[in-house]
Amino acid sequence: MNSDFLNRLYAGDSVNFLKGYIQDDSIDMVLTSPPYDDLRNYNGYSFEFEKIAHEIFRVLKKGGVAVWVVGDKIRNGNRSLTSFKHALYFQEIGFNVHDVMIYAKKNTPFMRSNAYTNSYEYMFIFSKGKPKTFNPLKEATARHGAEMLVANKKADGKNYKVLRELKKEKTRTNIWFYAVGLGGTTNDKEAFKHPATYPEQLAQDHILSWSNEGDIVLDPMCGSGTTCKMAFLNKRNFIGIDISQEYIDIAQKRLDKYMGIFSEYSK
Ligand SMILES: C[S@@+](CC[C@H](N)C(=O)[O-])C[C@H]1O[C@@H](n2cnc3c(N)ncnc32)[C@H](O)[C@@H]1O
Repeated sequence: MNSDFLNRLYAGDSVNFLKGYIQDDSIDMVLTSPPYDDLRNYNGYSFEFEKIAHEIFRVLKKGGVAVWVVGDKIRNGNRSLTSFKHALYFQEIGFNVHDVMIYAKKNTPFMRSNAYTNSYEYMFIFSKGKPKTFNPLKEATARHGAEMLVANKKADGKNYKVLRELKKEKTRTNIWFYAVGLGGTTNDKEAFKHPATYPEQLAQDHILSWSNEGDIVLDPMCGSGTTCKMAFLNKRNFIGIDISQEYIDIAQKRLDKYMGIFSEYSK
């Protein structure tokens, strides 16, 4: 990978950019959220899902992971299931569906009158072969301390209990909860000029889980730059692309607080 491309933001179509500049098998991790359905009109730009999926597969290293954060539109009581269609397509083109995780929102204003309030999106974990990196995040167990626990059966066939220490922490489950909105998603006010930012903590949690320091993290639809900011703050290299110059400007402002690099890619 030519290091000139690293730690920069690019305004342009990601399919063209990746095809033109990014070599096969050169990216450690992709973390992104696509436009889905016509839920939000991202300045009216087009999005060629299949082409982007192929490019992500091509540029990822063997063992690289792509995290795809996506939800469904509900129209006339009917869920689009775009999320599932995307996942099936990724699988068809050669990715393993390593996991289907849930991004649960602690607070959500979107109520439905005849169904339970939808409060989650999917976080699909696609891997190009077996993931080469997994740094499991831990959480505190509900109970700590010593407890009489069942030990292995003895020769007499009985289970004997012994005093053992309960583990203080365990690997998290695959349902992750985040507060959304100012103070939850981020404290950067300018980020909210973008209509669909995901939480910084979500981005950080995935970056820590599926990459290591010095790795290259790509967001081909980076919007307000959440992935890039959190990659940088966690000592990863990043490449951020968005078709909208307006969103790249927002991302640049957020990153400028930490670094001073910006580049424009002409379509
Ligand atoms: C859901 S938003 C991403 C938000 C981002 N995760 C954040 O935290 O701000 C999807 C983004 O995809 C961008 N987009 C749509 N088509 C694109 C394309 N062909 N190439 C690059 N970006 C594109 C849109 O401009 C939009 O900002």
